Amino acid sequence: MKIDARILIVEPDKAGLKNLKRAMEKKQGYRVTAVPAAARALKLIEEQEFDVVVTRLRMEKVDGARLLEKSRQLHPDTEVIVITAYPSIPSAVDMVKKGAFDFIAQPFQPEDITKTVAAALEKVMSRRESAQLTYQVERFEGKVRIMTRDSVVQGLLETARQIAPTDCNVLITGESGTGKELFARYIHYVSHRAEGPFLDINCSAFTEELLSDELFGHEQGAYAGAASIKKGLIEAASGGTLYLDEITEMPSALQVRLLRVIQEKELLRLGGTSPVDVDVRIIAATNRDIHKAAREKRFRDDLYYRLNVVSLHIPPLSERREDIPLLSQYFLKKYSSSMNKDVGEVSPAVLGLLMNYDFPGNVRELENIIERGVALAGGRAIELVHLPQDFRELNIRTFRRKEGRLPSLEEQEVSYIQWVLKEAGGNKTAAARTLGIDRVSLWRKIKKYGIEAD
Ligand SMILES: Nc1ncnc2c1ncn2[C@@H]1O[C@H](COP(=O)(O)OP(=O)(O)OP(=O)(O)O)[C@@H](O)[C@H]1O
Ligand SMILES: [Mg+2]
Repeated sequence: MKIDARILIVEPDKAGLKNLKRAMEKKQGYRVTAVPAAARALKLIEEQEFDVVVTRLRMEKVDGARLLEKSRQLHPDTEVIVITAYPSIPSAVDMVKKGAFDFIAQPFQPEDITKTVAAALEKVMSRRESAQLTYQVERFEGKVRIMTRDSVVQGLLETARQIAPTDCNVLITGESGTGKELFARYIHYVSHRAEGPFLDINCSAFTEELLSDELFGHEQGAYAGAASIKKGLIEAASGGTLYLDEITEMPSALQVRLLRVIQEKELLRLGGTSPVDVDVRIIAATNRDIHKAAREKRFRDDLYYRLNVVSLHIPPLSERREDIPLLSQYFLKKYSSSMNKDVGEVSPAVLGLLMNYDFPGNVRELENIIERGVALAGGRAIELVHLPQDFRELNIRTFRRKEGRLPSLEEQEVSYIQWVLKEAGGNKTAAARTLGIDRVSLWRKIKKYGIEAD
């Protein structure tokens, strides 16, 4: 592979200079500027940036050390390689300490130089790439923020960041509302496709015919009523990312056509005869067990393998409870600012409820609860009364799994008594009435379980 690299060579020996220049231009295809004196080189680096500078150390008037110093100062990303004759190896080592990439001692073969230059270039390029990535992450972070304290989700983020710059397809699985689409957008915005479109479609929301039309489009006159050409979403997403939600619901005939798009990078619109080129990254998502569906032949396994190049499984919110306070805080800020209110917290009772709830609707459900709470809250905090009634009731009936097992009757009884006592503001008579037992029985249970009741 030819790299478009700019190299500056500084070498007083005319023949040596010519040889070096030729080796790098002809064999490597670099763009080479060759000068016989460091004074000229100094002028050049003031005007332009090179990727790599190769310079002799000992030279008359201005020497290589001065050039190195100036280059590090003007262009910290440029790598400098020093050539030196045997007696001055210690000073060459000194140059490396001062920031030179490496030194080459005479006598050397042209390959010694080209190898070192290639290594220096690799360093320059990879630094540039990661700088660009960091820049992209910063740029999109305003659009897509994935908040988490959970180490599993953090690992997923890391994977997403790593695979984003490649073009590989991604399969995202996870329950409804866990953030599948958010992850898809994240990948899109960190990728080199960020400037291209991000389009999404829910495969379960259409009949087969309509889904086909949405995805693949049609030619003029393809069927009665097809008055003009329609580009499908796959074509429209070219240069960008297409997010296919609920992929398991895609009818099998369309699965075949999608597979073809992935393999051939082209498609036929309905009624079309000549294929259209498409360049699209596909991110598919499902809350079903697609692996099982593929095994049972309800989903084409060849397509499954094509989509599943990278897979991300997002755990449900109930398996990462430390994210509940973090996300609550995040949504509080988000909705407080969009509603122009000053609701900065959830009351301890509300947080207690949230921490105990199972969230079948995952992050989306938490977001809705906080949004509603912010809308209703009069003061600084979301209180119990600002929660949906059915949520409060539902919670009582929700059995929280602990380390994967359901609670015992006793554990459930303890937390229910605590809950009712809290609701009753610590009033035991009222709590006993709600519980349908007399005060003495309640008192006994409080003692037996060591419940804090005041
Ligand atoms: N870690 C997170 N940080 C911030 N917001 C999140 C996070 N996870 C999810 N959300 C928010 O929760 C809502 C639901 O997320 P998203 O739409 O991505 O879920 P989904 O998995 O695609 O759901 P469905 O399967 O129902 O389509 C969105 O508003 C999203 O921005
Ligand atoms: Mg979704």
